[in-house]
Amino acid sequence: RADEPVDQLGRGLRDLRISVTDRCNFRCRYCMPREMFGRDFEFLARRQLLSFEEIERIARLAAGLGVRKLRLTGGEPLLRRELDKLIGALSAVPGIDDIALTTNASLLTPAVAAGLREAGLNRINVSLDALDDESFRAMTDVDYPVQRVLDGIDAAADAGLGPIKINMVVKRGTNDDQILPMAEHFRGSGHILRFIEYMDVGNANRWRLDEVLPARELVDRIAARWPVEALPPNHPGEVANRWRYADGQGEIGVIASVTQPFCGGCRRLRMSAEGKLFTCLFGSRGYDLRALLRSGASDEQLADALGGLWRRREDRYSELRSGEPGDDTPADGEKKVEMSYIGG
Ligand code: GTP
Ligand code: 5AD
Ligand code: SF4
Ligand code: SF4
Repeated sequence: RADEPVDQLGRGLRDLRISVTDRCNFRCRYCMPREMFGRDFEFLARRQLLSFEEIERIARLAAGLGVRKLRLTGGEPLLRRELDKLIGALSAVPGIDDIALTTNASLLTPAVAAGLREAGLNRINVSLDALDDESFRAMTDVDYPVQRVLDGIDAAADAGLGPIKINMVVKRGTNDDQILPMAEHFRGSGHILRFIEYMDVGNANRWRLDEVLPARELVDRIAARWPVEALPPNHPGEVANRWRYADGQGEIGVIASVTQPFCGGCRRLRMSAEGKLFTCLFGSRGYDLRALLRSGASDEQLADALGGLWRRREDRYSELRSGEPGDDTPADGEKKVEMSYIGG
């Protein structure tokens, strides 16, 4: 369509990832290490957050520019009060055909899951990095039983939010011994376990290349135990490479942002909880849409700003960066935005 913007590399805009809070009740070492996100870290204040009305307005305008899928993220999105109300509003936006949520599942009781589903949530991705409590603690840095996350996954499945994707960030030397136990647990469950290469997002995690377990090695480890066959992507630009167990026990995914970047199909725009827009996960300075929103801009002015931002975009950080492993400074030399702020 003529009014749908295309960026400098020919990519259209299809997904909008909306962070609804920068707070989280976990302190995953790879995302919110306590040294940085401690007692005196200043999170966004209430008045800085976009209201549900503001988010809905942006989603409506984004849908007019081609967005079809919305994903709510955090921090931990279920910490935002009355999230079901936002989902209800978003599900009424014309053009949106998929609303998803990425969560740590700690707050996902049966009642919450049912409420989200009823409000219009279609799918859910749950972060879970280990099956064993000790490894789980080494990754998340909280004293929280894995069983409660598994209960949250069951609650979501019972509410009709399945098949659920389970996101496992793999750090070599920390939780890579959990790959086979996790695979075994989720084989045949109907859920899709996805292994994620530890990425150099933000600055807080002090990322090191030697802690990345390359996707190739990961798939070899799985295949040595349970043979797998490659599956085609569900849609162009899907972040995960799909594999099927040859014995029919379901599928797994591998998100290889470090060793096999997928910028060519990147059609995602991200919005922080305070309304800053990022055209790449590895960006540094966002575009302040909230300033424009709160200055009384018309729908047309806002849509022009969104479309213009997308047309100017030429991001392909992971592709560029894969040529220089070890160098993780953004092109403009500034500090990269943190994962918990941008929502992954
Ligand atoms: P589906 O629509 O279910 O495939 O979800 P998703 O994989 O797009 O979203 P999710 O929030 O579950 O993210 C899974 C992992 O993929 C996280 O580690 C994200 O940070 C990462 N990811 C998602 N989109 C991008 C992207 O555009 N670039 C990079 N480098 N990583 C991404
Ligand atoms: N590398 C890869 N994945 C990460 N996530 C958070 N930080 C990182 C990182 N440094 C994952 C979370 C969640 C998703 C939104 O991003 O585990 O599943
Ligand atoms: Fe919280 Fe998710 Fe970040 Fe872990 S990865 S600290 S659960 S936002
Ligand atoms: Fe898109 Fe940036 Fe991720 Fe590449 S690194 S896929 S451009 S968000």
